Amino acid sequence: NDKKILFSGMQATGNLTLGNYLGALKNWVNLSDEYECFYSVVDMHSITVRQDPATLRKRARALLTLYIAAGLDPKKNCIYYQSHVSGHAELSWILNCFTYMGELNRMTQFKDKSAKHADNINAGLFTYPVLMAADILLYQADVVPVGIDQMQHLELTRDIAIRFNNLYGDVFTVPEAYIGKVGAKIMSLQEPCKKMSKSDENPNGSIYLMDDPDTIIRKCKRAVTDSEACVAYRDEQPGVKNLIDIYSACTGKTPSEVESEFEGKGYGDFKMAVGEAVVSILKPLQDRVKELEADKAYIDSIIKENAEKANYYAAKTLRKVQRKVGF
Ligand code: ADP
Ligand code: NA
Repeated sequence: NDKKILFSGMQATGNLTLGNYLGALKNWVNLSDEYECFYSVVDMHSITVRQDPATLRKRARALLTLYIAAGLDPKKNCIYYQSHVSGHAELSWILNCFTYMGELNRMTQFKDKSAKHADNINAGLFTYPVLMAADILLYQADVVPVGIDQMQHLELTRDIAIRFNNLYGDVFTVPEAYIGKVGAKIMSLQEPCKKMSKSDENPNGSIYLMDDPDTIIRKCKRAVTDSEACVAYRDEQPGVKNLIDIYSACTGKTPSEVESEFEGKGYGDFKMAVGEAVVSILKPLQDRVKELEADKAYIDSIIKENAEKANYYAAKTLRKVQRKVGF
């Protein structure tokens, strides 16, 4: 078929948050009609930071299950583990030889992560962006929906692809960032100047996708707001603005509709409504996860089938690249 190809992935480190869902996963579902999609559980990226193996394995499976529970049809989308397709590692090695140390030295995420994991600044952490380039180029992806934090890596991917193509002819599709309707950027409930993140140390700052209803409501009630006592969508009220964004994303209402709805009402009522709106979108997702988890054989078959499919496409690109470099 002539659909454009889309690649994206998430790391199986930490439990996914409402931010991951509203900002990425939920939108992936909408993209899956328009594009031929590869959605990977990027477990090879995870080991750049030390992991407990059993936990990583469990989380990787939970993430893949969540992709399906969120509505990604595993017959129409390729949903697979990165580590099940050896082409990622093989292409990554070749691309390493076409990437300069100076380019990698400029990556801000490496600087951040090496500061955070000073006891384990391994070579994998340094060449992480090259593995990411391999992930994308292996499937000849046209588009990559990425958050702002990954833009620098995508730029590098494009530079590597162009460099390789200039040397060897049209081998790689040069990918573009997906610039359609992007999901809301959700901020921490406790520090609304910081994004909600699965690696946040404060568990009250994030709503996790598998949090039970009481926990969700409690976290919303405790969300940091301000003393304005007015549900207004403005930068001066970052906590309230974030709650409006969450409520909007969950209900489909615009921020100004939300302002009108809560005109003259206190933060207590508003926070309760936000909590209930989050529960009402997460509850069906959680129920579906539980159903899927109970059907072990089904998930196993999806994993196997999709790994074969991914390997088929990966092998085509890899063979072409290997010939070009002289293997
Ligand atoms: P995290 O910071 O939670 O570890 P990742 O960096 O693994 O998140 O990002 C996975 C995907 O989720 C990316 O597409 C990213 O843009 C999106 N994402 C992560 N956090 C948020 C957020 N707070 N709001 C919106 N989207 C987010
Ligand atoms: Na992250």
